[in-house]
Amino acid sequence: MNQPIRTRVVVVGAGPAGLLLTHLLDRAGIDTVLLENRSPDYVLGRIRAGVLESSSVDLLTEVGLGDRIHAEGDEHRGIYLHWPGEKHHLDFVDHVGRSVWIYGQTEVTKDLMAARERAGQQSYYEVADVTLHDVDTDRPAVSFTDADGTPRRVEAEAVAGCDGFHGPSRGALPDDVRRTWERTYPYAWLGVLADVAPSTDELIYSWHPDGFALHSMRSATVSRLYLQVRPDEDLAQWPDDRVWEALATRLGHGEDGWTLQSGPITEKSVLPMRSFVATPMRHGRLFLAGDAAHIVPPAGAKGLNLAIADVCLLARALTAWLVDGSPGLAESYSDDALRRVWRCTHFSWWMTSMLHTTGDPFDEQLQLSQLRWVTTSEAAAAGLAENYAGLPIGF
Ligand code: APR
Ligand code: PHB
Repeated sequence: MNQPIRTRVVVVGAGPAGLLLTHLLDRAGIDTVLLENRSPDYVLGRIRAGVLESSSVDLLTEVGLGDRIHAEGDEHRGIYLHWPGEKHHLDFVDHVGRSVWIYGQTEVTKDLMAARERAGQQSYYEVADVTLHDVDTDRPAVSFTDADGTPRRVEAEAVAGCDGFHGPSRGALPDDVRRTWERTYPYAWLGVLADVAPSTDELIYSWHPDGFALHSMRSATVSRLYLQVRPDEDLAQWPDDRVWEALATRLGHGEDGWTLQSGPITEKSVLPMRSFVATPMRHGRLFLAGDAAHIVPPAGAKGLNLAIADVCLLARALTAWLVDGSPGLAESYSDDALRRVWRCTHFSWWMTSMLHTTGDPFDEQLQLSQLRWVTTSEAAAAGLAENYAGLPIGF
């Protein structure tokens, strides 16, 4: 084993949570070491969500990462809610004065990786055997094997577990401390990426007796679309023609002259769906952020935004503690972050429950009643808009 590497904060995981945290800490003059078990190309190649809340865009802009979002992203005022024979635009700006931005998580990650390069801080990719040690002492450490096979150890004042749902950080909370809450759903999403201009100016969330569908997008020439399917769905049963046919039916092709343009599908996958929260998000000198602590189902596009909100709170807390010597925000980090986590967990569950068919005719009537309510009542529409466009960070 080489001499231990010393730093102030060791960050495990180079997804959006880990990368943004290192950027925020770097701006506060706090040195970090970043550990990631995949290669940079793998991290950049993952297809993820693409909606940024206005508070996420404000934060990224404030810390010097907004240029490409503003140049290449697309600002949306709201979303469409559709069910057979009805389509309503819900305008977030009218209701709550905030918009959302379409900008892929891959692009956010690219901007963050470039910022990390510029910061000149140590990052280790393709590491193995990441193990957290002594997180409930004053000298926490993380050991790992680097890409060349050399065993290493980083000693720090704090460990940030930003290693997603499958990473090791959450497991470093003792069993008698960690508590988890979970809901699995009896459906999944089949997602496709297609080389075709979006057939809509803003996202369409569609309820249909055959199942939910979503028309999203990545750019002027790339569409992202989803279909509700069974969790054990076999992709082989979904040739491209069947995908486009189901999308056309569920999204309302032909209604009021609206047409869905199809094109070559470049990626197709099934996304499982669950709600999951682990608490506390802090134990000793270990702090969890992003998917390491919580997962939301994708309806409502909260996953990335929640990761951004977590690390914003965490960077503030670590800066107050490590730079100013005030541990108060670090001590309250878990409670502070969990307030927003539970709000977004509820909103994502609520959107999911409203839009996905279960085969139960009573559920269907309740869902249609709910959809009519949010599209005709000012108060109900404002509630959806406030949650979708995003509550202020620190809510
Ligand atoms: N050692 C080091 N890194 C690890 C390990 C490990 N043992 N296990 C996982 N990782 C890395 C993953 O490879 C990934 O790059 O941790 C990173 C976690 O990143 P994400 O999964 O993107 O999670 P997060 O940064 O919290 O971002 C949340 O991502 O999954 C979406 O919907 C989610 O949009 C949300 C966002
Ligand atoms: C996406 O573009 O991938 C997307 C958009 C909205 C969602 C979920 C995913 O609610």
